[in-house]
Amino acid sequence: MEFDTVILGAGAAGLMCAAHCAGPGRGRVLLVDHAKAPGEKIRISGGGRCNFTNTGCEAANFLSSNPHFAKSALARYGAWDFVSLVSEHGIAWHEKTLGQLFCDESAKQIVAMLTGLVAQAGAEMWLSTSVGEVRHDGALFSLTLDKDGTPRQVTARRLVVATGGKSIPKMGATGLAYDIARQFGHAVTQTRPALVPFTFPEGRFAPLSGVALPVVAQTVDGPPFAEALLFTHRGLSGPSVLQVSSYWRNGEPVKIDLLPGQDAFALLRAARAEAGRRGLARVLASWLPTRLADAVAEELAHPGNLADLSDPRLQEIAQRLHRWQVIPGGTEGYRTAEVTLGGIDTAGLSSQTMESTQLPGLYFIGECVDVTGWLGGYNFQWAWASAMACARALSGAQG
Ligand code: FDA
Repeated sequence: MEFDTVILGAGAAGLMCAAHCAGPGRGRVLLVDHAKAPGEKIRISGGGRCNFTNTGCEAANFLSSNPHFAKSALARYGAWDFVSLVSEHGIAWHEKTLGQLFCDESAKQIVAMLTGLVAQAGAEMWLSTSVGEVRHDGALFSLTLDKDGTPRQVTARRLVVATGGKSIPKMGATGLAYDIARQFGHAVTQTRPALVPFTFPEGRFAPLSGVALPVVAQTVDGPPFAEALLFTHRGLSGPSVLQVSSYWRNGEPVKIDLLPGQDAFALLRAARAEAGRRGLARVLASWLPTRLADAVAEELAHPGNLADLSDPRLQEIAQRLHRWQVIPGGTEGYRTAEVTLGGIDTAGLSSQTMESTQLPGLYFIGECVDVTGWLGGYNFQWAWASAMACARALSGAQG
């Protein structure tokens, strides 16, 4: 079967691209996915409400070997462009925090909007279709597909790879994009799980499981993230931890300020002056969740009253609260990671169109590219923006 464009992956980027590159006079477009339903990660995202963009989105919110690469696509299709699309389709939304926009009702509305646009544009969608061999004969791509157990051979002048990264293999994530990239001479930067909880040996924080508090967390060379921290049975999670996990390297410490924006030394001195007969745990519990206050006091091994503590000792305790350091044993890995860090080297792609510089007609969009966003709607915005950069090039090229 002959198509003008085949798009592999009916996730966020693939759906967005198909919706905007297909249409009357734009040739035959086929969207392929091995899953039974399109946009599965959209459906489960943001706790079922999809944090579909971030109003403060800019290239500085992304990690990439080339921090400039994302600029062009993000500038040409910004957060407010997607907000307009969502609003035009009657999907109500709200800002939760830090510029993060969510659906009022359900993430399924975003999937329905995109699949509706794909159908309206006249693109075909083949689900439950696995991808076998991908070849290029100098003019055409030819793909061996298997749709519901029936082999299909398709050809296309253009191939868009939008099969995402490796996170959550249970949902069907595969490394197909990286394999296709390498096959056609592209470099792939080192990939690893990101936006992922930290684990610690011997259930170190299990007794604190469920405790949450606002902190500022930072790795050795990453930016600070002022968001919530959550203790879990396996270790540490919560938005601040997921954010720093993208910057963390094995063996490195993570620095956590448990009392951000406060002066712990001044607080401790004032408490000593006002109620010196109180124990440290009780005093700490005025500022920290009780279970954490108990654990910190126990770790500091101070059984006596606050009045017994000298200024230097209070300084030490204050330091401990503002500069708590932990060395994670590892992360929960691709099993729970929201995204894959690294990917197809941007050096081999046009930042204007996402087209391969090695092989014209081949495009890579979305998470498979070495552009990884922070937590907070940035990864979807990259999926929409890179898809639009590609779709514009494809529809323009088809005239
Ligand atoms: P995506 O993963 O969406 O799509 C890839 C598609 O390719 C899938 O449909 C898959 O089935 C298909 N595929 C893979 N391998 C294939 C193969 N071998 N053959 C055929 N098809 C194949 N981001 C954000 O901005 N806000 C949020 O709220 C969240 N929330 C969130 C929650 C959870 C639990 C996860 C795991 C992730 C998020 N994210 C997020 C991240 C976001 O989901 C992710 O960055 C985008 O979905 C990436 O879009 P892509 O289209 O590139 O890949």
